[in-house]
Amino acid sequence: MTAPSDPPSPRKPRSTRKPKAATEVAADGAAAPDAAARDIAVAGLSAAQAKAEHGALAAEIAGHDRAYYQKDAPVISDADYDALRRRYEEIEARFPKLKGADSLSEKVGAAPSEKFGKVIHQVPMLSLANCFSDTEVEEFVARVRRFLAFDGGEELVFTSEPKIDGLSCSLRYVESQLAVAATRGDGAEGEDVTANVRTIACIPNEISGADVPDIIDVRGEIYMAGADFEALNERQAAAGKPLFANPRNAAAGSLRQLDPSITASRPLKFFAYAWGEASSLPADTQFGVVEAFARWGFATNPHMRMAASAAELVAQYHAIEEERARLGYDIDGVVYKVNRIDLQRRLGFISRSPRWAIAHKFPAEQAFTQLEDIEIQVGRTGALTPVAKLTPVTVGGVVVSSATLHNEDEIARKDVRIGDTVVVQRAGDVIPQVVRVVEEKRPAGAVPFQFPHLCPACGSHAVREVDPKTGKEDAVRRCTGGLICPAQMVERLRHFVSRNAFDIEGLGEKQVEAFYDWGLIASPADIFTLEERNARSLQRLENREGWGKTSAQNLFSAIASRRNVAVDRFVFALGIRHVGETNAKRLMRHYGTVEALEEAALAAVMPSDTHPKGNEAWLEMTGIDGIGGVVAEAVVEFFEEPNNREVVAALLKEVTPEPMEQVASESPVAGKTVVFTGSLEKMTREEAKAMAERLGAKVAGSVSAKTDLVVAGPGAGSKLEKARTLGVSVITEDEWFALVG
Ligand code: IVH
Repeated sequence: MTAPSDPPSPRKPRSTRKPKAATEVAADGAAAPDAAARDIAVAGLSAAQAKAEHGALAAEIAGHDRAYYQKDAPVISDADYDALRRRYEEIEARFPKLKGADSLSEKVGAAPSEKFGKVIHQVPMLSLANCFSDTEVEEFVARVRRFLAFDGGEELVFTSEPKIDGLSCSLRYVESQLAVAATRGDGAEGEDVTANVRTIACIPNEISGADVPDIIDVRGEIYMAGADFEALNERQAAAGKPLFANPRNAAAGSLRQLDPSITASRPLKFFAYAWGEASSLPADTQFGVVEAFARWGFATNPHMRMAASAAELVAQYHAIEEERARLGYDIDGVVYKVNRIDLQRRLGFISRSPRWAIAHKFPAEQAFTQLEDIEIQVGRTGALTPVAKLTPVTVGGVVVSSATLHNEDEIARKDVRIGDTVVVQRAGDVIPQVVRVVEEKRPAGAVPFQFPHLCPACGSHAVREVDPKTGKEDAVRRCTGGLICPAQMVERLRHFVSRNAFDIEGLGEKQVEAFYDWGLIASPADIFTLEERNARSLQRLENREGWGKTSAQNLFSAIASRRNVAVDRFVFALGIRHVGETNAKRLMRHYGTVEALEEAALAAVMPSDTHPKGNEAWLEMTGIDGIGGVVAEAVVEFFEEPNNREVVAALLKEVTPEPMEQVASESPVAGKTVVFTGSLEKMTREEAKAMAERLGAKVAGSVSAKTDLVVAGPGAGSKLEKARTLGVSVITEDEWFALVG
């Protein structure tokens, strides 16, 4: 274990990045692996499990690709990403039917962002397969030999070179002049970064040499040296700007600037190591072409070597690993390539990577330390994220004092307890993680961690959603007190005033944030009491920066004009999970008023052992066309939280929701309760229900005194009888059509 007194790293501690970002991604369904299912070896997965996991993994990987390639802000370590990708590929290898045209295994990276012009790569920019052990290197060499039918003593030479942790770039030279520079993008199409690349000192604008072909795409890695990265971050800090998490992000962020003068001010470098389209090549080996690159004026990596066996490759791997800390730039492994280009051509590609090359990755860096506490952070969307507070320890040259624990299940699975000695890991980048507990060192009396069921920021209930289809709980526990939770407040207020919600002119996201910071608005109802409070206030709005008499008055008028708002907008504005505009409309078409919705939510009993199907109120809500268990559960949980009911009540004192503007208001069945019974011949039961609801009717499953109309088809039995006894009007299906036109 490394003692806390270790010399602090000159680099900024990793904790400058907020671990909560990781689970915000998880909250969107991008990062939280389903620990239970993923514990099953691929060989043990059923076809259905494989299909479900394949889909989930694809979404998760795509989310990480976007974070990494488009936002330059990865949220998991490379090692974890590689693990996800491996599992995905293993699943596809065992269940090839899952391999559709848009399989991720055929793609590299993420589609280019909209910021830059697009460049189609004439020869795709591919990725590399990874391996992690000496045995896998032997397997790679054996595979290549087998493929080439080199089963005798044929000489097979490989190159080895550091795998630079930067971003790859393709530089097209036409008649020796730099014509286009492009990022990798999704491998097929990248971003045009020519203007920015021209500012990089070690990339020649013109290349020279007798063997320079007419056209050649020189490819390689743009990176930032460690010392330059630190200096840049110091400048960022001095200017009050956000710090970059690591040199790779700094390089990517610097290259993908709209203003080339910013790129020019950033110390970027480039190593040339590959090529794309070329009208001819200056040599017939990998080594020879890279030597030519050096002659033409490119920087090439001085640690490139040749090797004739797996054992030699592994020896070079260890030599580079040994040198790693002194290189002055980040590398994350060693790349091996078949040296002869004719053999490379014969070997070709398999999905997204060449058969003739492989990346031998370094293991993630780890250290032992003590878990001092588990802090629960609440994200902007209410996700509760456990963060390990650690005795500071140096891992791979960076001081780590907190690490993500992902979620409740991960804590339980690893049985992480406060006081434990834990192994922390950081893999070249992003958020450190707690890998495992050293159980032998557990202090006496350490108890299993109880994940809170109340939000630490506001005290509201925090719940885990259950997927009604699988019956499985969501990995993330969420605070239900969105409307009072300080961690979520700004986000909720922003939503509240957004265009499709209350849409108050002059009160946009920025103003809401400022009002929150100034202590003027802490809950939606405060918006409507702002004018009155302002009149009594010592620090009037009109005297604050950016405001004047007219703008303040205009704002108050705009607010006043929204005291009447359509009820579906009102419900949408509450920001109930899963209740977007459409679901708000569906709910309010059925319930009509906020009070009725609240009453229904409080009456509803969700399915449980005692009520396997839930009670009548639950069935009524889930029976609304388009409203399933997930939405209903969110509505019930929202209103079950007393804090939310208080906010709604306060708001209803200020605002009068108006009935929805609906086509239905003129329909003859608007507001009526209709029951369909017997067999319908012109429409299915679902269609009938949807139609009635569209027309503003409520559809009930049973006849009662509240029923206005029964539509009876042939074979109608007890419901029809009951309607007759109660004197409810009964019509046929044809009469229904005649009635509603
Ligand atoms: S060769 C067709 N050599 O690693 C294969 N790639 O994981 C072309 N990388 O996209 C790649 N150092 O961004 C190659 N010495 C090196 C590399 C290297 C870093 C990156 C490159 C590539 C990624 C694949």
